[in-house]
Amino acid sequence: MSTKLPANPGGADRPIGIFDSGVGGLTVLKAVRARLPGEHLLYLGDTARLPYGTKSAESVSRYALQAATHLVERGVKMLVIACNTASAVAMPALTREFAPLPVVGVVEAGAEAVVRVSKSGHIAVLATESTVRGGAYARAIKARRPDARVFSQACSLLVALAEEGWTRGPLVEAVVREYLHPLLEEKKRDGLDCLVLGCTHFPLLREAIAHVAGPEVALVDSGETVALVVEKLLAEQKLRRSQNAKGDACFLATDGAERFARVGSLFLGEPLAAQDVEPVDL
Ligand code: DGL
Repeated sequence: MSTKLPANPGGADRPIGIFDSGVGGLTVLKAVRARLPGEHLLYLGDTARLPYGTKSAESVSRYALQAATHLVERGVKMLVIACNTASAVAMPALTREFAPLPVVGVVEAGAEAVVRVSKSGHIAVLATESTVRGGAYARAIKARRPDARVFSQACSLLVALAEEGWTRGPLVEAVVREYLHPLLEEKKRDGLDCLVLGCTHFPLLREAIAHVAGPEVALVDSGETVALVVEKLLAEQKLRRSQNAKGDACFLATDGAERFARVGSLFLGEPLAAQDVEPVDL
């Protein structure tokens, strides 16, 4: 990892900009990197203002615009909103603001992924309060499968657990059980078969969520679908970097480089040092 990227204004060597409120979006970065190892990636975690999920749509939109503007000013060739909360409330505004720059959001990708997996069409979405409030997931799923029944559950505390690096064990399972209780009741009645991890922090708690949800419920996260969408758009816009050389990943955080590196390592599944994280002010 390094904090310097090759300067190449206007070309395919420019990085893909990815942002989230914190380290959760690193689950998306990981999926993009696995699919497109030759791409340079520039990640921004807005840790100073985390969590987004309990804030108003107005605040989240403002934060998302500032984070995206910072990445655009650094010359990214594409924006990935690796935060369901920001995608749910700010995707149309960011797409308009930065056109013709391609903007990819995780909510559309998550909806796409779940309609491919669900047989019964009875789908649960675990997300933050703000994502659930706006109903973006239900709309995105129903746009693809009009007969779908979507039940959304706000699980804001899971963000704090993930940011704390508490991803398994009895305490985590107790919290997950509390949140999933209404969904599991529903499952008994209606044959719920898919659960969308509608927050990029939640894949880290996958094991505990899967254990509580039971084997008949498939867990779906949007990381891989985002990576496929990114690949397709890069090809269409002839922005794909040669995949012969390995791409670099750079990390920016609005607060606490040491903490970002420590918790981020868990999300990335590989060590990240504090000196690899550049502090930025938006
Ligand atoms: N990881 C973000 C999401 O996907 C938000 C977490 C938060 O800041 O509340 O919604």
